[in-house]
Amino acid sequence: MEPILQLRGINKSFGAVQALRNVDLEVYGGEVVGLVGDNGAGKSTLIKIIAGVYAPDSGEYIVDNRRVNVTRPQDATHLGIETVYQDLALCDNLDVVSNLFLGREDTISGLPFMNSTEMERRTIDVLRQLDVKIRSVHVPVSALSGGQRQSIAVAKTILRNARIVILDEPTAALGVAQTRQVLQLIKRLRDQGLGMVVISHNLADVFEVVDRVIVMRLGRRVASFDIKSTTTEQIVAAITGAEFSNGIDGQGASVGSTASVNGDEGADDGNHPAYQHESGKGSIQ
Ligand SMILES: Nc1ncnc2c1ncn2[C@@H]1O[C@H](COP(=O)(O)OP(=O)(O)OP(=O)(O)O)[C@@H](O)[C@H]1O
Ligand SMILES: [Mg+2]
Repeated sequence: MEPILQLRGINKSFGAVQALRNVDLEVYGGEVVGLVGDNGAGKSTLIKIIAGVYAPDSGEYIVDNRRVNVTRPQDATHLGIETVYQDLALCDNLDVVSNLFLGREDTISGLPFMNSTEMERRTIDVLRQLDVKIRSVHVPVSALSGGQRQSIAVAKTILRNARIVILDEPTAALGVAQTRQVLQLIKRLRDQGLGMVVISHNLADVFEVVDRVIVMRLGRRVASFDIKSTTTEQIVAAITGAEFSNGIDGQGASVGSTASVNGDEGADDGNHPAYQHESGKGSIQ
């Protein structure tokens, strides 16, 4: 089985800051990939490149084994790759139906081709498919809970026929019950065959929902773990660059170097033992 999406050797600088260094990423259908790393590690920059918001300085963007050019958000959308940002980009004063159809391409000056009955039907269908429960599709989204709003933003990507959905900190602002709702939604989409990428600082959420976790540090991908054979300590060590010696899967490894985050970046060349090129591994049934 081939990944739906692959990035290879992505570099991106902002002036003197090299935000991404030679980053690879692969996402299969039917898996959730966690993208973790400290502040400034390059996670958002990476997903903005996937989303067509930034163009990389170099590197390849491959979908279904074909090299593609993604230079605008519409390019990503056409390829079935959708990103839900933290601010969700919903219009608070509009109802659920209007939000789902806002900004679509099958519109004339913002007004959809579809009539309102059809839009309402499709809204109800997609919410049912995702098992999202709201009182009415005609309430303004400002009246919804954080979890429901996140679900509406995800539903919007599904209506656009997403195959890969990227979520930037989907549970950061949510309480316990709402977090649960959103994690369930991510699992359902995975089970429907979508590839999901979830950025999170919350390792409990990561362990609950992801199949594979990719760790970024100082703009590099420094480790990738199959979640089933990984401990929190290993992930934290990879995030911080600390050493550890007894990997649970028997691969005792030093992730990165003992260098502090300001230290010798050359030490992380991606060739240390914990860096697993695990294409084809992981839960991709
Ligand atoms: N538009 C920009 N202009 C200049 N520098 C930027 C820009 N976007 C990101 N950077 C820099 O690139 C590096 C990576 O930032 P990025 O936002 O990708 O990190 P992150 O992993 O998403 O961090 P966080 O967890 O804090 O959201 C940082 O040093 C940041 O300051
Ligand atoms: Mg970020």
